[in-house]
Amino acid sequence: MNEACFMHITRDFPHGMSVAEYFGGVGIFSTIVQETLKPRLHLIYDIDDDCVRQLQSAFTGRAVVGKADAKEVMGTHPVEMVVLDFPTMNVRFFERDWPVAKVMQRPQAPKYLIWSDTALRRIGWFRHLYTEFFGEEVFSYSDYIRCFNKLLWTRYRYTITRVSRHMHAYYLAQPLDSMVPPEVVSLRPW
Ligand SMILES: C[S@@+](CC[C@H](N)C(=O)[O-])C[C@H]1O[C@@H](n2cnc3c(N)ncnc32)[C@H](O)[C@@H]1O
Repeated sequence: MNEACFMHITRDFPHGMSVAEYFGGVGIFSTIVQETLKPRLHLIYDIDDDCVRQLQSAFTGRAVVGKADAKEVMGTHPVEMVVLDFPTMNVRFFERDWPVAKVMQRPQAPKYLIWSDTALRRIGWFRHLYTEFFGEEVFSYSDYIRCFNKLLWTRYRYTITRVSRHMHAYYLAQPLDSMVPPEVVSLRPW
Protein backbone atom coordinates (compact mmCIF):
# COMPACT_ATOMS: atom_id res chain seq x y z
CA MET A 1 0.00 0.00 0.00
CA ASN A 2 2.92 2.37 0.61
CA GLU A 3 3.84 1.92 -3.03
CA ALA A 4 0.27 2.62 -4.16
CA CYS A 5 0.25 5.82 -2.09
CA PHE A 6 3.59 6.92 -3.51
CA MET A 7 2.46 6.19 -7.07
CA HIS A 8 -0.76 8.10 -6.49
CA ILE A 9 1.08 11.14 -5.15
CA THR A 10 3.52 11.18 -8.10
CA ARG A 11 1.03 10.12 -10.78
CA ASP A 12 1.43 13.09 -13.13
CA PHE A 13 4.92 14.35 -12.30
CA PRO A 14 7.10 15.33 -15.25
CA HIS A 15 9.84 13.11 -16.62
CA GLY A 16 13.51 14.06 -16.47
CA MET A 17 13.71 15.63 -13.01
CA SER A 18 16.59 15.44 -10.54
CA VAL A 19 15.51 13.33 -7.57
CA ALA A 20 17.04 12.58 -4.16
CA GLU A 21 15.83 9.77 -1.90
CA TYR A 22 17.36 9.81 1.57
CA PHE A 23 15.78 6.58 2.88
CA GLY A 24 16.31 4.24 -0.07
CA GLY A 25 15.50 0.99 1.76
CA VAL A 26 15.38 -1.95 -0.64
CA GLY A 27 14.58 0.23 -3.62
CA ILE A 28 10.84 -0.15 -4.16
CA PHE A 29 10.27 3.59 -4.42
CA SER A 30 13.51 3.91 -6.42
CA THR A 31 12.11 1.44 -8.93
CA ILE A 32 8.94 3.51 -9.23
CA VAL A 33 11.01 6.69 -9.67
CA GLN A 34 13.14 5.03 -12.35
CA GLU A 35 10.26 3.44 -14.24
CA THR A 36 7.63 6.15 -14.06
CA LEU A 37 9.55 9.42 -13.72
CA LYS A 38 12.64 8.64 -15.84
CA PRO A 39 14.83 11.01 -13.80
CA ARG A 40 17.82 12.69 -15.40
CA LEU A 41 19.60 12.47 -12.03
CA HIS A 42 18.69 10.06 -9.25
CA LEU A 43 20.48 10.07 -5.90
CA ILE A 44 19.67 7.26 -3.45
CA TYR A 45 21.02 7.02 0.09
CA ASP A 46 20.46 4.77 3.08
CA ILE A 47 22.30 4.27 6.35
CA ASP A 48 22.08 0.49 6.35
CA ASP A 49 24.88 -1.52 4.69
CA ASP A 50 22.61 -4.29 3.40
CA CYS A 51 20.22 -1.75 1.88
CA VAL A 52 23.08 0.08 0.22
CA ARG A 53 24.42 -3.19 -1.26
CA GLN A 54 20.97 -4.05 -2.57
CA LEU A 55 20.48 -0.55 -4.00
CA GLN A 56 23.91 -0.65 -5.66
CA SER A 57 23.24 -4.00 -7.26
CA ALA A 58 19.84 -2.83 -8.52
CA PHE A 59 20.62 0.71 -9.70
CA THR A 60 24.31 1.05 -10.54
CA GLY A 61 24.55 2.80 -13.88
CA ARG A 62 21.10 4.35 -13.48
CA ALA A 63 21.41 6.14 -10.14
CA VAL A 64 24.05 7.40 -7.73
CA VAL A 65 23.82 5.18 -4.65
CA GLY A 66 25.63 5.84 -1.38
CA LYS A 67 25.67 5.11 2.32
CA ALA A 68 24.74 8.24 4.28
CA ASP A 69 22.97 9.43 7.37
CA ALA A 70 19.99 11.47 6.23
CA LYS A 71 20.59 13.79 9.17
CA GLU A 72 23.84 14.85 7.53
CA VAL A 73 22.99 14.88 3.83
CA MET A 74 19.36 16.04 3.66
CA GLY A 75 19.25 19.46 2.04
CA THR A 76 22.75 19.31 0.59
CA HIS A 77 21.73 18.39 -2.98
CA PRO A 78 20.19 20.86 -5.47
CA VAL A 79 17.39 18.62 -6.74
CA GLU A 80 13.82 19.19 -7.92
CA MET A 81 12.23 16.35 -6.00
CA VAL A 82 13.06 14.99 -2.53
CA VAL A 83 11.64 11.75 -1.12
CA LEU A 84 11.75 11.14 2.63
CA ASP A 85 10.33 7.71 3.37
CA PHE A 86 11.13 7.98 7.07
CA PRO A 87 11.32 4.85 9.25
CA THR A 88 8.77 6.53 11.52
CA MET A 89 7.46 10.07 11.48
CA ASN A 90 4.82 12.42 12.76
CA VAL A 91 4.70 16.18 12.93
CA ARG A 92 6.20 16.29 16.43
CA PHE A 93 9.43 14.71 15.13
CA PHE A 94 9.44 16.30 11.66
CA GLU A 95 11.66 19.28 12.50
CA ARG A 96 12.93 18.02 15.84
CA ASP A 97 14.63 14.88 14.52
CA TRP A 98 15.36 15.65 10.86
CA PRO A 99 16.84 18.67 9.02
CA VAL A 100 13.76 19.17 6.85
CA ALA A 101 14.21 22.93 7.22
CA LYS A 102 17.47 22.64 5.27
CA VAL A 103 15.58 21.01 2.41
CA MET A 104 12.82 23.62 2.25
CA GLN A 105 15.12 26.59 2.78
CA ARG A 106 17.57 25.78 0.00
CA PRO A 107 18.15 28.72 -2.41
CA GLN A 108 16.49 26.58 -5.10
CA ALA A 109 13.88 24.83 -3.02
CA PRO A 110 12.69 21.46 -4.36
CA LYS A 111 9.43 21.72 -6.32
CA TYR A 112 8.24 18.42 -4.89
CA LEU A 113 8.79 17.27 -1.33
CA ILE A 114 7.33 13.89 -0.37
CA TRP A 115 7.43 12.25 3.04
CA SER A 116 5.80 9.46 5.00
CA ASP A 117 3.76 10.14 8.13
CA THR A 118 2.70 7.49 10.62
CA ALA A 119 0.39 9.56 12.83
CA LEU A 120 -2.85 8.34 11.27
CA ARG A 121 -2.95 4.91 12.87
CA ARG A 122 -2.77 6.26 16.42
CA ILE A 123 -4.47 9.62 15.98
CA GLY A 124 -7.11 8.58 18.54
CA TRP A 125 -4.50 7.94 21.23
CA PHE A 126 -2.33 10.94 20.63
CA ARG A 127 -4.72 13.70 19.62
CA HIS A 128 -3.99 15.50 22.89
CA LEU A 129 -0.28 15.61 22.00
CA TYR A 130 -1.01 17.05 18.57
CA THR A 131 -3.45 19.55 20.08
CA GLU A 132 -0.72 20.67 22.45
CA PHE A 133 1.88 20.75 19.67
CA PHE A 134 -0.19 22.83 17.24
CA GLY A 135 -1.88 24.94 19.91
CA GLU A 136 -5.25 24.23 18.35
CA GLU A 137 -7.67 21.35 18.68
CA VAL A 138 -6.79 18.23 16.72
CA PHE A 139 -9.59 15.70 16.89
CA SER A 140 -9.58 14.07 13.45
CA TYR A 141 -6.87 13.31 10.95
CA SER A 142 -8.30 16.12 8.80
CA ASP A 143 -7.51 18.52 11.66
CA TYR A 144 -3.96 17.15 11.78
CA ILE A 145 -3.46 17.70 8.03
CA ARG A 146 -4.93 21.20 8.19
CA CYS A 147 -2.68 22.23 11.11
CA PHE A 148 0.38 20.62 9.49
CA ASN A 149 -0.34 22.55 6.28
CA LYS A 150 -0.60 25.80 8.19
CA LEU A 151 2.68 25.13 10.02
CA LEU A 152 4.59 24.43 6.80
CA TRP A 153 3.10 27.46 5.10
CA THR A 154 3.87 29.80 7.99
CA ARG A 155 7.44 28.61 8.50
CA TYR A 156 8.60 27.64 5.02
CA ARG A 157 6.03 28.80 2.44
CA TYR A 158 5.45 25.19 1.46
CA THR A 159 1.87 23.99 1.19
CA ILE A 160 0.61 20.42 1.36
CA THR A 161 -1.01 19.67 -1.98
CA ARG A 162 -1.65 15.93 -1.76
CA VAL A 163 -2.11 13.33 0.97
CA SER A 164 -2.51 9.68 0.08
CA ARG A 165 -3.37 7.44 3.01
CA HIS A 166 -3.96 3.86 4.08
CA MET A 167 -2.71 2.76 7.53
CA HIS A 168 -0.07 5.48 7.21
CA ALA A 169 0.07 8.42 4.84
CA TYR A 170 2.28 10.01 2.23
CA TYR A 171 2.40 13.77 1.85
CA LEU A 172 3.37 16.02 -1.02
CA ALA A 173 4.26 19.65 -0.30
CA GLN A 174 5.20 22.32 -2.82
CA PRO A 175 6.49 25.90 -2.63
CA LEU A 176 3.49 27.63 -4.22
CA ASP A 177 2.29 31.26 -4.21
CA SER A 178 -0.42 30.60 -1.64
CA MET A 179 -1.53 27.95 0.83
CA VAL A 180 -4.00 25.50 -0.74
CA PRO A 181 -6.21 22.79 0.75
CA PRO A 182 -4.67 19.42 -0.11
CA GLU A 183 -6.31 16.67 -2.11
CA VAL A 184 -6.71 13.83 0.40
CA VAL A 185 -7.29 10.30 -0.88
CA SER A 186 -7.82 7.13 1.12
CA LEU A 187 -6.53 3.99 -0.59
CA ARG A 188 -7.86 1.65 2.08
CA PRO A 189 -9.73 -1.21 0.43
CA TRP A 190 -12.32 -1.25 3.23
C1 LIG B 1 10.56 2.91 5.37
S1 LIG B 1 12.17 2.38 4.93
C2 LIG B 1 12.34 3.01 3.28
C3 LIG B 1 11.73 2.09 2.24
C4 LIG B 1 12.04 2.54 0.83
N1 LIG B 1 11.21 3.67 0.44
C5 LIG B 1 11.87 1.41 -0.16
O1 LIG B 1 11.22 1.64 -1.20
O2 LIG B 1 12.36 0.30 0.09
C6 LIG B 1 13.19 3.41 5.88
C7 LIG B 1 14.68 3.27 5.60
O3 LIG B 1 15.35 4.31 6.31
C8 LIG B 1 16.64 3.86 6.61
N2 LIG B 1 17.18 4.78 7.63
C9 LIG B 1 16.87 4.83 8.96
N3 LIG B 1 17.54 5.83 9.56
C10 LIG B 1 18.27 6.46 8.59
C11 LIG B 1 19.14 7.57 8.57
N4 LIG B 1 19.42 8.28 9.68
N5 LIG B 1 19.70 7.94 7.39
C12 LIG B 1 19.44 7.24 6.26
N6 LIG B 1 18.62 6.17 6.21
C13 LIG B 1 18.04 5.77 7.36
C14 LIG B 1 16.47 2.41 7.01
O4 LIG B 1 17.67 1.70 6.85
C15 LIG B 1 15.34 1.96 6.05
O5 LIG B 1 15.90 1.32 4.93
